[in-house]
Amino acid sequence: MGRELTFHIFRYDPEDPDSIPHTDIFIMEEKENMTLFIALTQIREEQDPSLQFDFCCRAGICGSCAMVINGRPGLACKTLTRELPKEITLMPLPVFKLIADLSVDTGAWFRAMNEKVGSWIHTSKKFDPSAREERMDNALAEEIYELERCVECGCCVAACGTANMREDFVGAVAMNRIARFMMDPRDERTEDEYFEVIGTDEGIFGCMGLLACEDVCPKNIPLQDQLGILRRKMGWNTVKHLFRFGSS
Ligand code: SF4
Ligand code: SF4
Ligand code: FES
Repeated sequence: MGRELTFHIFRYDPEDPDSIPHTDIFIMEEKENMTLFIALTQIREEQDPSLQFDFCCRAGICGSCAMVINGRPGLACKTLTRELPKEITLMPLPVFKLIADLSVDTGAWFRAMNEKVGSWIHTSKKFDPSAREERMDNALAEEIYELERCVECGCCVAACGTANMREDFVGAVAMNRIARFMMDPRDERTEDEYFEVIGTDEGIFGCMGLLACEDVCPKNIPLQDQLGILRRKMGWNTVKHLFRFGSS
């Protein structure tokens, strides 16, 4: 017989004028290899069909099941209940717009962020569908791929003190995106143009550097390294401008 688990789950529907934020308690027996996703599905099937939470892939790929698990952002489908105490508190991710219960709208936030930082290859070359694929050095392609693994789950944003205090802060996820494009030889943006995007208080200079983002990232993206590299590059760019050394 498995442990008896007690779930304390945040409930609130902002669209329902009668809804009041509160916590509901659900009790269930733990099964072997039970993930939080399995537990939540069982609660919805057997105890409360109105419980709202997001999921899609169930394999840590789509990033949609992120929530705050006993105070720490994480993916429900990748979290085994046996790694948690018997009392489990689940809250929706902060920073993002609440849809209801544990479901938040990360999509709108990510879309705005991607537009703000120009999260695509900027090139003057015209797209030619008949042209052969551009070749890239394998080692560089792997370095870029390492940063491309982000699943836009929002855990790093939810854990970030600055993002929680300031709506305009782009977060570690955006800086990771910029670091990825700075490495990519196909992106023709200059260092000054990158500076315009993240060399500000909304970008790298708003970051407090305490690295909660890297601690909670379920894909182990090396955010600490990227934030350090960008801080040095953007800091140097500021110095160049201050002393009018010219720009790159
Ligand atoms: S290191 Fe920067 S981006 Fe990461 S959590 Fe702290 S303030 Fe946010
Ligand atoms: S960097 Fe990590 S925590 Fe942040 S959105 Fe991407 S996968 Fe999630
Ligand atoms: S359901 Fe896709 S990451 Fe959890």
